[in-house]
Amino acid sequence: MDHESALMSLFQPEGRLDPYPAYDAIREHAGIFQALDGRWFVTTHALTSRLLRDSSLRVADAADYDRTWADWRENRGVASVVLSMLQTNPPDHTRVRRAAAATFTARRVAALRDVIAAQVEELIEALPARTEFMNAFAYPLPIGVICALLGIPEADRPWFRQRAADLTVVLEPISTEEEMHRADLAGRDLEDYFIGLIADRQRAPREDLTSALVATAGDTGLTGAELLANLVLLLVAGFETTTNLLGTGLRILLDHPEQADRLRADADLAPAFVEEMLRYDSPVQLTSRFTAGPVDLGDDGQIPGGEMLTLLLGSANRDPARYPDPHRFDPDRPSIQPVSFGGGAHYCLGAPLARLEAQVAFPLLLTMLPGLSLAGPAERRDRLVLRGYATLPVSTG
Ligand code: HEM
Repeated sequence: MDHESALMSLFQPEGRLDPYPAYDAIREHAGIFQALDGRWFVTTHALTSRLLRDSSLRVADAADYDRTWADWRENRGVASVVLSMLQTNPPDHTRVRRAAAATFTARRVAALRDVIAAQVEELIEALPARTEFMNAFAYPLPIGVICALLGIPEADRPWFRQRAADLTVVLEPISTEEEMHRADLAGRDLEDYFIGLIADRQRAPREDLTSALVATAGDTGLTGAELLANLVLLLVAGFETTTNLLGTGLRILLDHPEQADRLRADADLAPAFVEEMLRYDSPVQLTSRFTAGPVDLGDDGQIPGGEMLTLLLGSANRDPARYPDPHRFDPDRPSIQPVSFGGGAHYCLGAPLARLEAQVAFPLLLTMLPGLSLAGPAERRDRLVLRGYATLPVSTG
């Protein structure tokens, strides 16, 4: 497969199903190259890590959208993501990120361990003998955890689940008009809900993250619009991504029963297993940056200013120069450090939470359900950026 047709295949349903052979072909061609349509693609672990940390690179922000899509703000799904920290550059990004990081602390995440374990046990106990894992476990857990963190009542979780799912489509490079319409409606609903929640926490603060963000907004200089967009982001950024880590991770364990036995016998192996799951089949496969001025990459050449780069995280994670025998699932690898959570200024704010959910969930799934097995054909979602399963039928033993 030549690199251009390999690249094209990623934008076709068959290529997306298993992008790894295409990544190999593209990476063998070059660590970075400009495709025929002018976009630049980055394929190796070294260059991806280096460019994620390059503070001269920018993410597409509101001003960029203004230049290319006059009424993007009218789609509230798009607007909530574009106005969030994910698509904001310094100095605004630095200020907003600092405000969020000051409240969404490692301590707050660690304190959720028991809440997560209780939700995992409750979900496992409710599983019937044959079930669809994504629907019955991988979706409800992250939404339950993020709702508990933000202080959203349990009764509202199913409502959130649907809207968060509709909104994530704006993270994909290609989507249908119908999907964009649903993202708009979901954005409107979520904004209305959070406006109510913010007003409620201003009146009567609680022990949740929303109250903490509201209480510190004045000191940290967070505007009302920023608070709103970033609450929506916290909900959607951590939802389908973590769902996909849980679904993909389970599938990997079922495909590697000898490794699953090791984790079942020793829950302390969970951090290494989860890192290797993230590397082996990343829930986020790519992200984008723009060059402001020329970027000198030494032996790898130079990128001119004003260019768009696609960083193929999923390819970087399978780079044989960084991970010998990269297509093998091997939790015993030394220093795994995948780029699945990005790197640099936009490094995933929710990484400790996502890791904790997976580290708690897998040992409990394996010990509470020792006979867990695949019970039919699993189907992938046809998505390029957020990679995961649509259905994963399992028998619980
Ligand atoms: C396995 C699960 C997850 C994966 C693979 C993941 C992946 C990522 C990646 C790749 C980025 C950086 C994007 C870029 O640089 O362009 C990111 C950013 C972000 N993630 Fe996650 N994420 C996960 C879970 C979560 C969770 C649970 C939360 C919150 C509860 C969260 C919140 C965020 C936020 C707020 C940002 C934006 C940070 C910034 O722009 O400064 N993520 N995530």
